[in-house]
Amino acid sequence: MQRITVIPGDGIGPEVTRGACDVVAASGAAVRFHEVPAGQRAEREHGTPLPGAVFESVSETKIALKGPTQTPFGGDYRIHVERRDAAGKTRRSSYPSIAIALRRELELYVAVRPSKNYPGVPSHFENVDLLIFRENSEDLYIGMERMIDEGTAEAIKIISLRATERVTRFALEYMRKLKRRRLTIGHKANVMKLTDGLFLKTAQETARAFPDIAVEQRVVDALCMELVMRPGEYDALLLPNLYGDIVSDLAAGLVGGLGVAPGANFGPDCAMFEAVHGTAPDIAGKDLANPMAMILTAVMMLRYMNEGQAADRIERALAAVLREGRAVTRDLGGEAGTRAMTDAIIEQMR
Ligand code: NAI
Repeated sequence: MQRITVIPGDGIGPEVTRGACDVVAASGAAVRFHEVPAGQRAEREHGTPLPGAVFESVSETKIALKGPTQTPFGGDYRIHVERRDAAGKTRRSSYPSIAIALRRELELYVAVRPSKNYPGVPSHFENVDLLIFRENSEDLYIGMERMIDEGTAEAIKIISLRATERVTRFALEYMRKLKRRRLTIGHKANVMKLTDGLFLKTAQETARAFPDIAVEQRVVDALCMELVMRPGEYDALLLPNLYGDIVSDLAAGLVGGLGVAPGANFGPDCAMFEAVHGTAPDIAGKDLANPMAMILTAVMMLRYMNEGQAADRIERALAAVLREGRAVTRDLGGEAGTRAMTDAIIEQMR
């Protein structure tokens, strides 16, 4: 029985993670959930938004299913993490958000975010089937920012050969397993000559060991334009952290929005599955959130755990609910709530 750490998170997080867990439980997968708090509730109840219990649980289970967690805009909000290293020494770090703290502390160096059309999900396009690989550990998201004076702020962007090589190798090996054939590297090496230049050069050189996969490059602004014009022409994208974050949301918009976009973070020791969307404060607590992104995220988790049959059952049930189009949420053109859509998927599996 595989134990899974569940982090419900903030906003719509508890609604959609509960739905995903119920669907996984109904799929016949041999799993047990261990819920731990992170986010605002954890801050209220434990005095910290990221309690040590989260790391303790993940170090045991090696797999986490995470709902979104809220981060205030601006200000000097930081997530402080205190952990013992292997030698027993206390190490203190701070990060701009809980999601970033978890990805960095757990060494989850790559985010994989598929965006594809599902029959029944309203979208401007057909035949979109994109796989995005986002470097997760560096770039401007290391959170090194400071005010130089009252009117000027600066941020440091780090791109390293090691992290770029690691994420590129992961992307190409992942693509090989799925028989995907074309990788487009997104960058801004025309302006960020050293940082993005290093990303591009390293990714291209690493890709030479994978002659079965065609590798091309695009400046990220032109790539965005092409994606909204002809998304069906792209197969897989490899991007540094910041562009990867932005292009993932753009890609979600190509196939029906954030309510349908799943995601996963992988590292050498563990994996954390989280949808692309955030806490959606505008609809939180109203039973309006689409549970599909989180359910597809759980499907990615089940495939990672070699629970392929359970994953297939869920995908088939979800496809049936989408096809019928009755028990779907507002963003999909229906009137069902989060719970009703979840229950309809569970009902399909009976
Ligand atoms: P958001 O993704 O929460 O919402 C953007 C829009 O998409 C909203 O209109 C929302 O209602 C809609 N939306 C999102 N998920 C949906 C779903 N499942 N069903 C239907 N509609 C959905 O992005 P926003 O507003 O920029 O961020 C809100 C908060 O979430 C911020 O505090 C942000 O830092 C946090 N966030 C956390 C993430 C994480 O923990 N992994 C990722 C992204 C944002």
